[in-house]
Amino acid sequence: MRRPRPGPRTPAALVAATPGPAHTIEFDGRAIPALPGQSIAAALWAQGIVAWRTTRVGGRPRGAFCGIGACYDCLATVNGRPNQRTCLLPAAPGDTVTTQEGHGHAELAV
Ligand code: FES
Repeated sequence: MRRPRPGPRTPAALVAATPGPAHTIEFDGRAIPALPGQSIAAALWAQGIVAWRTTRVGGRPRGAFCGIGACYDCLATVNGRPNQRTCLLPAAPGDTVTTQEGHGHAELAV
């Protein structure tokens, strides 16, 4: 006799989470679904977006690396504020996230 197959192995299923309904954030003008309590980085990853910053030297792409607020690779501009660690910021309904280039203060360049 075969045992019934368990449901899909998703992060939410593994921890038996039952999040509320998704809301929407915006990333570079694109609507992105996010779950309550989900970080901005996790919401972007869930949509296959893995880079949302470029380095100061060379303009190389970066995204989440450590996921715990230590590496600062996941910086982005969130609601107009540059240098926000997206792995630590919960995605709030209506948040506007934009790719950050360089140090995030291009408006101060002279
Ligand atoms: S991924 Fe390392 S600080 Fe956010």
